[in-house]
Amino acid sequence: MRDLLTEELGDAGFQVQAAANAAAGLELARAERFDLIITDLRMPEMDGFDLIRGVMAMPSAPHVVMITAFGSIETAIRAVKLGAYDYITKPFEIDELLLVADKALGERALRSKVARLQREVEERYGLGNLIAKSQAMRDVVSLVQRIAGSTASVLITGESGTGKELVARAIHYNSARASAPFVAVNLAAVPESLIESELFGHKKGAFTDARADKPGLFIEADNGTIFLDEIGELALPLQSKLLRVLQEHEVRPLGATKDQRVDVRVVSATNRNLESMLADGSFREDLYYRLNVIQVDLPPLRSRPEDIVPLAEHVLAQLGGRQTPPRKMRLSSEAQQLLLAYNWPGNVRELMNVLERGVALCQGELIADDDLPPQVREKRPADFLGTAVARRMTLADLEREFIEAVLADEAGNKTRAAQRLGLDRKTLYRKLDEYAKDREGAAQTAARAASQGDEDS
Ligand SMILES: Nc1ncnc2c1ncn2[C@@H]1O[C@H](COP(=O)(O)OP(=O)(O)O)[C@@H](O)[C@H]1O
Ligand SMILES: [Mg+2]
Repeated sequence: MRDLLTEELGDAGFQVQAAANAAAGLELARAERFDLIITDLRMPEMDGFDLIRGVMAMPSAPHVVMITAFGSIETAIRAVKLGAYDYITKPFEIDELLLVADKALGERALRSKVARLQREVEERYGLGNLIAKSQAMRDVVSLVQRIAGSTASVLITGESGTGKELVARAIHYNSARASAPFVAVNLAAVPESLIESELFGHKKGAFTDARADKPGLFIEADNGTIFLDEIGELALPLQSKLLRVLQEHEVRPLGATKDQRVDVRVVSATNRNLESMLADGSFREDLYYRLNVIQVDLPPLRSRPEDIVPLAEHVLAQLGGRQTPPRKMRLSSEAQQLLLAYNWPGNVRELMNVLERGVALCQGELIADDDLPPQVREKRPADFLGTAVARRMTLADLEREFIEAVLADEAGNKTRAAQRLGLDRKTLYRKLDEYAKDREGAAQTAARAASQGDEDS
């Protein structure tokens, strides 16, 4: 039987080695790397079960297929419980065995591929790849480090392109949930009528197009993290449904009669001003506090110029490495000056696009000012209003930033600032008082949220 199998498997293209008993097989398996062990159950001295135990104790243990006697399903069950990949019942056709062997090796290849991808993803989203030279970004990184381990909900705020999704991934891949799924969904990109079934799933027949059961993203993310991007776009009725899931830790797919428990950490992000949405009733306050147990605010790139050159170098190393042959891309000092002077309404994403264009246009390895797009080359003053629109600022936000900027420009001299602003001094004092109170309130809320953070899961 052993000789026959060796020959048939060899003919089918496998590299095969035979051992005359379990002890010899185990020794062989320890000495070399095998993908699959096919073994009989009844053998002198050491039986097939002991062999499985021995194999399972090995690091990256090969798959085991056990040959069992006809009618002894208990044996098969016991083998599988001990860790065997599969079994095959005597008598069998050689094709049957080949099929099982193919399946085992296919699954094994897939498994090691998944493990490799997992490692790659973890490396890519490790904190080492978050470029953070400025104090503001270093604060973000240290906050991420501190909160990754907890299960508290995190709300990431910041303009488009500031790195919100990158930070969400860093939180997940630095948490104990790293090997469970990270599921990202952009709520602005899913039609409103589909969001519920997308998030919570549906049963076959729940609506016209529901041709099969669908688990929904919360269930897919079980034990892991769900990233709800553009949470500010969620319509009010769906906000209530989401709130229920966060409170109960249960989802009910559309058309289902029972709730299903889920253990999911929620990280959400928005570039909108949710506080002003609370004020006008377009975002639920109770949901806001659930999502915003911990807030990570990503500053716009223009407010942290120290990050621009390190980011550019990081991106250029990546882009250059992808060229054939690889190019060691550098920036001329004029180009660097232009990047530093520009106000980056599209933040890091815009910087990446500008550099990609630069790499495509430039001949050698040095990106010169000519290789930068017109908006960056035109050293015009920052497009203040355009930026304000992109940041979705309210009139009150705008007024406040302007007042504070003028005051700073007058070195804190309130009389001169009031004159320049066309305000009387009393009005200016009143406004500054309000801002100070707001800030105090926000700091207290944040402190309270942080101290609650770990209890609230
Ligand atoms: N600090 C950073 N370090 C490295 N890459 C960054 C950083 N911030 C943003 N990026 C990159 O910029 C791009 C935009 O970031 P993303 O997370 O998609 O922004 P957002 O979700 O805020 O729009 C991504 O390719 C991201 O990898
Ligand atoms: Mg995004």
